[in-house]
Amino acid sequence: MDDLKAKYLAQIADATDENALEAVRLAAVGKKGEVALKMRELGKMTPEERQVAGPALNALKDEINAALAAKKSGLADAALDARLRTEWLDVTLPTRPRRTGTLHPISQVSEEITAIFAELGFSVAEGPRVDTDWYNFDALNIPGHHPARAEMDTFYMHRAEGDNRNPHVLRTHTSPVQIRSMEKMGAPLRIICPGGVYRADYDQTHTPMFHQVEGLALDKNISMANLKWVLEQFFAAFFEIDGIKTRFRASHFPFTEPSAEVDIQCSWVDGQLKIGEGDDWMEVLGSGMVHPKVIAAGGIDPDIYQGFAFGIGIDRLAMLKYGIPDLRAFFESDLRWLRHYGFSCLDVPTLHGGLSR
Ligand code: DAH
Repeated sequence: MDDLKAKYLAQIADATDENALEAVRLAAVGKKGEVALKMRELGKMTPEERQVAGPALNALKDEINAALAAKKSGLADAALDARLRTEWLDVTLPTRPRRTGTLHPISQVSEEITAIFAELGFSVAEGPRVDTDWYNFDALNIPGHHPARAEMDTFYMHRAEGDNRNPHVLRTHTSPVQIRSMEKMGAPLRIICPGGVYRADYDQTHTPMFHQVEGLALDKNISMANLKWVLEQFFAAFFEIDGIKTRFRASHFPFTEPSAEVDIQCSWVDGQLKIGEGDDWMEVLGSGMVHPKVIAAGGIDPDIYQGFAFGIGIDRLAMLKYGIPDLRAFFESDLRWLRHYGFSCLDVPTLHGGLSR
């Protein structure tokens, strides 16, 4: 029995992997292993012999099993150590300087605008890009015969023959979100709605899809003076020029009364446009006091609530702020252009941290 023990403990010690160890286990303490064979011989022994040999065999079996278990866990530890030695990673290495992706200037400018108006207490509202002509026109006091409908170069969705419901359009401006927000949230209300809009137009300053941000503030005592202050705050923050001059020109929109178009101060020197200096003016948005019919269309009583609205072209603002000469480049997905004009996605614009870096 001492020979058996010495033989198997040596084999266990020599086993170099789990397969070899399993072979030793079967030969020693498996059902047909050598220890089992010896156990079978117990039957032929005298009771006295059996009393000595039985416990000794059981002890041998226990000893071999214990050695097998110890070796098995030793082999597993060694295998893990070997893996850890080959599959290591130095987490203290610096990250790769190569930029893999950038934020499009329109995304960047939308974030900047949102950050500024958030500081002024405006929250962000959204509406569908495919909307009914009621939301896009009628509810905004642009009835069927109104010339503004024709001027907008609207994309109409196809309608099945005999379908008499309101036709759907690709929204031509973000103004329909005014109506949807009034319906959803009631008054008082302070929102901006950035998003894509569509018109059938294409040249250096027009693309079939572009971006606007709509603003709407409703309360019991809001006036044109509030509109002027909010817009001046906005332009100063956006162009990062304190006291930037603005000019309000009387204008006309069906959905506001009175209406104003707003220009900002600029100069043209040697074909170079500079914002916030000089004697020229650049038109940047439309605005006004919301027409009572529009407030009523939103389900709010215009005898109690009044307010201002405005619509800004985001693409135009991005071109002005970042010196981008051709609007069409925004949508061409030219990688070199995107790398040049793109922004780091980790620099989230905030008023305190700086809008653009
Ligand atoms: N919706 C107008 C457009 O796309 C822009 C606009 C003008 C929006 C005046 C307004 C506003 O909210 O008050 O041309």
